Amino acid sequence: MRKPIIAGNWKMNKTIGEAKDFVEAFRVEVASVKDVEILLCPPYLAVHEVAQRCQGTNIAVAGQDVFWKESGAYTSQVSAKMLLDAGAEFTLIGHSETRGRFGKEDMTEGQFAFFAESDETVNCKIKVALAAGLKPIMCCGETYNERQAGNTDSVIKGQVKNGLADLTAEQVGGMVVAYEPVWAIGTGEVCSTPEAQRVCAMIRAKIAKLFGDVAAESVRIQYGGSVKPDNAKELLSQPDIDGALVGGASLKVPDFVGIIKAI
Ligand code: 13P
Repeated sequence: MRKPIIAGNWKMNKTIGEAKDFVEAFRVEVASVKDVEILLCPPYLAVHEVAQRCQGTNIAVAGQDVFWKESGAYTSQVSAKMLLDAGAEFTLIGHSETRGRFGKEDMTEGQFAFFAESDETVNCKIKVALAAGLKPIMCCGETYNERQAGNTDSVIKGQVKNGLADLTAEQVGGMVVAYEPVWAIGTGEVCSTPEAQRVCAMIRAKIAKLFGDVAAESVRIQYGGSVKPDNAKELLSQPDIDGALVGGASLKVPDFVGIIKAI
């Protein structure tokens, strides 16, 4: 039986003070929630503050990214060791916003590729995180153009195969994969429940093919993209959707609590 996992990705939102206020109110609201793993993914600067305030609660903390080297001359980057030291237990890796894929379109002229993430860097980051004892949540998802061109399945299968390359079945079985169609992120345009279930089942089948049935049965697969309290229940009741990765609706305590309680 896979334990559902609901994560709130705050992206570039909340100062340390705002994060503190959120956690103070939030932890009381979810204190009685059992059998659901709850994660908060604050911006790096608030990870320590949030982790301190979540100590002894049922809330764990995740980074939003991690670099693939242990230390050194990598200006602006954060290592797995630093995240663990600050109190994180998980980290997102390969979010579409760090892959440089936004909204309904791929990168257009005038948008800067401020992160040049590829399946290869995603794979390096996952390996470094696992080696350090930080649990990776690997994000994947197709853009609007890729879906329109009928390439959804091949894009996702490629991201899964290349992102998880060289890992053991045991490592993959302990991981979380988040399916986030890029066109559904922050747009209010949620993927239909049958389609989200279909893609999540396809991800599980691909993992079964690459790593075996045991890994496929234990890997947890989240859906992300415009998840709200009113659509969470239906999405989360699907057999291959083991949780949600929530952006905008995780910024307000009542909305995020509503999603968690929908399970
Ligand atoms: P929204 O819930 O705001 O669509 O964002 C989803 C997301 O990108 C979570 O990582």
